[in-house]
Amino acid sequence: MMQRAHIIGTGLSVPERILSNKDLEGIVDTTNEWIVRRSGIKERRISSPDRDETTTHLSTQASRRALEMAGVCADQLDMIVIGTVTSDCQFPSTACMVQEALNAENAVAFDVSAGCSGFLYALNTVNNAIQCGTCRTALVVGVDRLSSIINWLDRGTCVLLADGAGAVVVTSNPGEGGILSSHLKSNGKFWDLLYSSDGNAYTPSILKGLSKKSFHLNMSGNRLFKQAIECLSSIAKDAMKHNSLSSDDIDLVVPHQANIRIIRAMADNIGIPMTRVFTNLHKYGNTSSASIPIALDEANRGGLLIRGKNVLLVSFGAGLTWAASIMKWTM
Ligand code: UT7
Repeated sequence: MMQRAHIIGTGLSVPERILSNKDLEGIVDTTNEWIVRRSGIKERRISSPDRDETTTHLSTQASRRALEMAGVCADQLDMIVIGTVTSDCQFPSTACMVQEALNAENAVAFDVSAGCSGFLYALNTVNNAIQCGTCRTALVVGVDRLSSIINWLDRGTCVLLADGAGAVVVTSNPGEGGILSSHLKSNGKFWDLLYSSDGNAYTPSILKGLSKKSFHLNMSGNRLFKQAIECLSSIAKDAMKHNSLSSDDIDLVVPHQANIRIIRAMADNIGIPMTRVFTNLHKYGNTSSASIPIALDEANRGGLLIRGKNVLLVSFGAGLTWAASIMKWTM
């Protein structure tokens, strides 16, 4: 009988330090009003090395919460796949660091790099492994600490980006539901709309203590904005069509949390009212690969994800990459 991948636990971890729009007014030439109107973001979490809020630590905390909810011990994991572009080390992978922290000695662990789509790329990898029978129980994490590569002189990006981690435990089960399908796309022609490059690190005094790296994130925001709406809408429609589902059949959309205007435009294009779209970017900003699993955990613990509901996950990010997955919730 065909095995399906089912999410059986979710968890999140975000840094303690809150950076408000008001705080940003003291760093770059911006206003709370501009940030809220153009992005929907009110505050975000920024990690503090003195609290040891590393990429590995945030991932491990989110993973422990997901494992606890699932009732799964770390040594039962066959696979750990992590979507990130901001590992603590160039190598080894964050997944191997998390494997060690959890003592998940029976897992194979590796990272995938797909910008903000990293979590859905990782989930797709695990879904395929479960369907092939090479994996029974896996941990999938989306984590990023974009504060480590933010250019704090660039008001077009530093007001949007943030840090966090989200995790899910996925297990194989021949029962109905679980992940119905998963869809990935990329187009390297537009790689230069969002990338990290060499640059001189600058850290504003309000954020002293942040680790410095010699590369900054560059973004062509306006061109990316248009691509994001087009890509998110088309892949969401493809995913619904693949499962013979209409927009009325989708109970909840959990999209990548980049900009409320992008999310509203996508929802409009695919015919789903915002009452059925989960957003939390006002609290967390754009946490890249972490945004979907953080949102999924909040929706799950908030009682919005009930057994039998159809959930559409949809993301867009650097690469360009974009992805969607539809699942029938079975927790
Ligand atoms: O995670 C996936 C990848 N990321 C995204 O998908 C993000 C996509 N892009 C966006 O979300 C939006 O393009 C932004 C929020 C980045 C910008 O919004 P926009 O409506 O596209 O604004 P814009 O870039 O066209 O800039 C409009 C004006 C410019 O001034 P002028 O040239 O009209 O005088 C900018 O210099 O707003 C100015 N501006 C700001 N003003 C105050 C840009 N950033 C700021 C700021 N505060 N923080």
